[in-house]
Amino acid sequence: MLEHAHAHDHGQLTLEERHEHEAETYDELAKLFLEQWGEEEYLLDRATPPFPNKEHVSFLGYALDQIGPLEGKRILEAGTGTGNLLVWFAMNGAEVVGNDVSAGVMEVARKRASINGVLEGVDFVHQPIESLDHPAGSFDVVFGNVVAHHFDVGRAGRNIYRLLKPGGVAVFSEPVLFAPDWVSKLRTSSAVTRYFPDVKHSPDERAFSRRMLTEFSEPFDSVDLRYFQILGRVQNFAQVSDETWARIEKVDTWLLDHVPWLYPVSRWVVMTMRKAD
Ligand SMILES: C[S@@+](CC[C@H](N)C(=O)[O-])C[C@H]1O[C@@H](n2cnc3c(N)ncnc32)[C@H](O)[C@@H]1O
Repeated sequence: MLEHAHAHDHGQLTLEERHEHEAETYDELAKLFLEQWGEEEYLLDRATPPFPNKEHVSFLGYALDQIGPLEGKRILEAGTGTGNLLVWFAMNGAEVVGNDVSAGVMEVARKRASINGVLEGVDFVHQPIESLDHPAGSFDVVFGNVVAHHFDVGRAGRNIYRLLKPGGVAVFSEPVLFAPDWVSKLRTSSAVTRYFPDVKHSPDERAFSRRMLTEFSEPFDSVDLRYFQILGRVQNFAQVSDETWARIEKVDTWLLDHVPWLYPVSRWVVMTMRKAD
């Protein structure tokens, strides 16, 4: 494959090897889901976005708002995983394509589409986003949730731009820590991870950095960034009650509205990246 010749910029692995690692990790998870999940785990409510938990409501709600009405839109969900968003888009009248490097998670997503009665309207493609070969200008929207840190961001950004129709929009929500290098090094040092583990789902996973964001968004004609959660990081270490969470979010919203120099330490960013008409 073409990717084989390209050593990846985050270590010695080629892009193809990274994709294989990702696929292995998520295939394993998918096996567990297929064995353990009952029908209720698959069912979605058309009227309510499928937020995995309370932490996602603010940033994922905002990201979904960036798409506008779903009816009739042609949407690609990049790195669709177990298909919560993909199937929900289809249930709301969008024409959808989901791609992923893991065949296992796509089987889970297919089962979800079937149980929710939209299998006919969903296309599943087992290809990485960097080389997804649909014709140029195929989509009104490319959406991605918690996936961009897995990508070769340069190639992914260029391919997503190509896949969008003129006037189309790419929306990605992503966990971030844009702090200086010394803060990231401290965060991943054994002294800190001993007490506060650095949670990883796959072996070569790494945090989405400012440099990756710049490279990912480089092809687009306009880029808007919106930041979410400062004190909300507490949820990485301890589960807080719904009431406490609501208070934390209120303070965070105020901080992010009034103190822009806090953006680099926020927990999430939503990137809205447009292709000109
Ligand atoms: C953290 S999961 C997120 C899944 C889903 N977007 C969600 O919101 O639940 C990341 C997903 O990205 C997929 N993935 C990783 N690298 C990819 C790539 N280069 N192209 C497409 N999918 C990829 C993984 O297989 C996995 O299903």
